[in-house]
Amino acid sequence: MGIMRTKSIEQSIRDTDHPDFRLRKALGALDLTLFGIGVIIGTGIFVLTGVAAATNAGPAIALSFVVAGVACALAALCYAEFASTVPVAGSAYTFSYAALGEFLAWIIGWDLVLEFIVGASAVSVGWSGYFNSVLQSFFGITLPESLLAAPGDGGVVNLPAVGIVVLLVIVLVLGITLSSRVNQVITTIKLLVVLFFIVYGIWFVNPENWSPFLPPREPAPAGEGFSFSQTTLWELLFGSAGSFGFTGMITGASIVFFAYIGFDIVATTAEETRNPQRDLPIGILGSLAICTVLYVLVSLIMTGLVPYQQLNTASPMATALSRLGLDWAAGLVSIGAICGLTTVTMILMLGQSRVAFAMSRDRLLPPWFAKVHPRFRTPYRITITTGVVVALLAGFVPLGTLAELVNIGTLFAFVLVSIGVIVLRRTRPDLHRAFRTPLVPVVPILAALVCIYLMLNLAVGTWIRFLVWMAIGLVLYFVYSMHHSRLAVGEDIEEVAEEAR
Ligand code: ALA
Repeated sequence: MGIMRTKSIEQSIRDTDHPDFRLRKALGALDLTLFGIGVIIGTGIFVLTGVAAATNAGPAIALSFVVAGVACALAALCYAEFASTVPVAGSAYTFSYAALGEFLAWIIGWDLVLEFIVGASAVSVGWSGYFNSVLQSFFGITLPESLLAAPGDGGVVNLPAVGIVVLLVIVLVLGITLSSRVNQVITTIKLLVVLFFIVYGIWFVNPENWSPFLPPREPAPAGEGFSFSQTTLWELLFGSAGSFGFTGMITGASIVFFAYIGFDIVATTAEETRNPQRDLPIGILGSLAICTVLYVLVSLIMTGLVPYQQLNTASPMATALSRLGLDWAAGLVSIGAICGLTTVTMILMLGQSRVAFAMSRDRLLPPWFAKVHPRFRTPYRITITTGVVVALLAGFVPLGTLAELVNIGTLFAFVLVSIGVIVLRRTRPDLHRAFRTPLVPVVPILAALVCIYLMLNLAVGTWIRFLVWMAIGLVLYFVYSMHHSRLAVGEDIEEVAEEAR
């Protein structure tokens, strides 16, 4: 009834079978794990680590990675249960529709746009920066400034960012198998580069750079007490602004949380997985575990190579190596970063298209978007639409401070998914759960609490933007989606297919 109506899991699964909405089932456990790693390793480790070490946590950034990793591991255990129970595109959105009702499902779907669209745009802008530096240093080509930045950032258009988005959308439309192959190749290169950094870098570590490991807290300079972009909600509510110390380490965790975003996207490919009950939990938990280990090692080595104060640059891994005179190694890392950011952008757009596909099939968005390409078996209309929005944002909007929105949006989705696990255990104890979250309700409750804690450690400005975004979502729901929802109008899947043609 009303906005709390739920869509039964059985119905969600039946919808995946209609010929007009059927995606190609081509992925196995290894593809999913590589998809996970493909989208996880990116800006977070290649860019944000250095800034967070230099301004928030010092060498204790490695601990920040552990804290963020624990939050993600708890949430991933909840995602794994859902994904193995409801193997339907849409991930957190579909889970919430079954467990928490349509209104919260819409909220989650709307919220995920922050993770996917804003995330993909921000990462493609980072890609453009690396691409430009490689063009300059390897080929001596210098692009005009006006083609390298959005209007508000001193340019006319960020052309490389637009270009890579267009290219990736073409790959995504051409098929899930091709997308998976492209991902495998590029992700392998990126993994090799990260391993190279660890294995090679370890010989140049100077342990003195790790001391003090947790630099003492420094209060913000007088007169700079409050800033929308720096002061966290937690500091505003409970303490004073500043950096480093334990609080700085936790703020660092909220920032590098970005580095882990993506394991949840594995769940959005559920309908394209041959044996989702078994393979989704492997893909989600496997990719997260591998990346956590790599992140802690990379951050230890990075802060061991040079004093952390020197890492405040756009390419800290390369910076650390070139400060030691290892320029060729720095160049190699830049290539790894380009590869890294390519697959992140691609898979974030993949995630967005699958969630919006599920929402259109449910008529919370216009059903036109849900049409699957007869030959490629991909939801091509929504994929192209996603690409256009990402390209416009990346090309023409200065994104700087928006990246934190990705974190708050994703953390919020994790909170709702965790609560959803507890609710669905109560409302549908009968369902077959191929993977069961251990120690329910302790693990989901802890997951929700840790994620809320990290959310509180994000800047006040981020909170305000997040609330404004969600308010817009509320209006759309009550004006459009609530009335058009299939559950409201009682349409069956055949009628939706008719509309989508
Ligand atoms: N985890 C992804 C990255 O760090 C979003 O780029």
